[in-house]
Amino acid sequence: MDWTALRAEFPVTRRWAFFDHAAVAPLTARAQQAMTDWAADLADNGLVHERRWVQRVEEVRGLAGRLLNADPLDVAFVKNTSEGIGIVAEGLPWQPGDNVVTAAEEYPANIYPWLNLARRGVELRRVESRAGRLWLDDIRAAIDGRTRLLSLSFVEFASGFRNDLDALAGLCREKDILFFVDAIQGLGVLPLDVRRTPVDFLAADGHKWLLGPEGAGLFYVRRERVEPLYPVGIGWNSVVGARNFSVIDFTLKPHAGRWESGSLNVAGITALGASLGLLLDLGIDAIAARVLELTDYLCAQAQRAGFEVYSSRRSEDRSGIVSLIVPGADVRQRVRHCRDRGIVINQRAGRVRVSPHCYNSTEEIDRLIAALGEQPG
Ligand SMILES: Cc1ncc(COP(=O)(O)O)c(C=O)c1O
Repeated sequence: MDWTALRAEFPVTRRWAFFDHAAVAPLTARAQQAMTDWAADLADNGLVHERRWVQRVEEVRGLAGRLLNADPLDVAFVKNTSEGIGIVAEGLPWQPGDNVVTAAEEYPANIYPWLNLARRGVELRRVESRAGRLWLDDIRAAIDGRTRLLSLSFVEFASGFRNDLDALAGLCREKDILFFVDAIQGLGVLPLDVRRTPVDFLAADGHKWLLGPEGAGLFYVRRERVEPLYPVGIGWNSVVGARNFSVIDFTLKPHAGRWESGSLNVAGITALGASLGLLLDLGIDAIAARVLELTDYLCAQAQRAGFEVYSSRRSEDRSGIVSLIVPGADVRQRVRHCRDRGIVINQRAGRVRVSPHCYNSTEEIDRLIAALGEQPG
């Protein structure tokens, strides 16, 4: 794979060494083009080419299906990860005394929707990390006879710890509880096959590792989990005969499509589709290998420079996110200093967070390590 040639697909590389895909990723050139083409079409022609847009949206659904190895009909387009989590949190038939298990260090998107169930008598249990990782035994210990669902991130946003979804899905089956995955920090850069790994629900907006814009995300629901969910947020497009506006027939679509209540974010979905096509052409396995190689290099160089690598770098724990401690540094100041040097990183939980994608280079990492070590004047 010629990763250097791939940089032409990323306009951001002209100006920045960009290492913040765990926040908001830069668009690929082809995603930008897809968005501007759609905008020009809408401006020039109004809805005249609407059929083409509908067709393109369905093609992108097909790409999403390929990404997850799912039936495309089991994937709905949502506006963000939070919408997907909310659909499940509000839709499950809770009984007072039920509980949900999650991690203490989850991103707030995966905390508040469950806390919001307190009014229905549902408790949220938050499992603490130890030594930068979540332990299966700790999660197992938090589950009891009233646990209905485990909700975890594919990759933890601050530490970069990659949860073992196979083991967790196995645990959920063993305990007969549901499994929700907030996949936004892994999808696009780490493989996830929902036929192999039996997650029940998954959500991810497209604006991180999938290299799409904000506001166009994916929500997967395993087919046998559709009916038990009370369908919140239903609209004209939720029913089987959605395009027949003069007939009212309240027969909901028998799949994830029922949660696409109305008009979709066509601009966002077509742009997401363009990036998704690129990622699938490159191959998610090849992208994963490349990103892990880059982050291994980053960790080695960081340690050589005297920084502490907080992220667990056991081979099965690694992800595209590396959390670093720079001794004696004011973290925010260092992040700003790097920005002044043309290098984009971020900070989370009081540590430096670096999140490269497959088009980044070792030269860029060398520049980053040098800038991070400089005391801003
Ligand atoms: C783990 C995780 N979930 C969700 C989000 C964002 O949620 P949403 O797509 O609803 O904006 C982030 C953003 O940083 C995240 O790190």
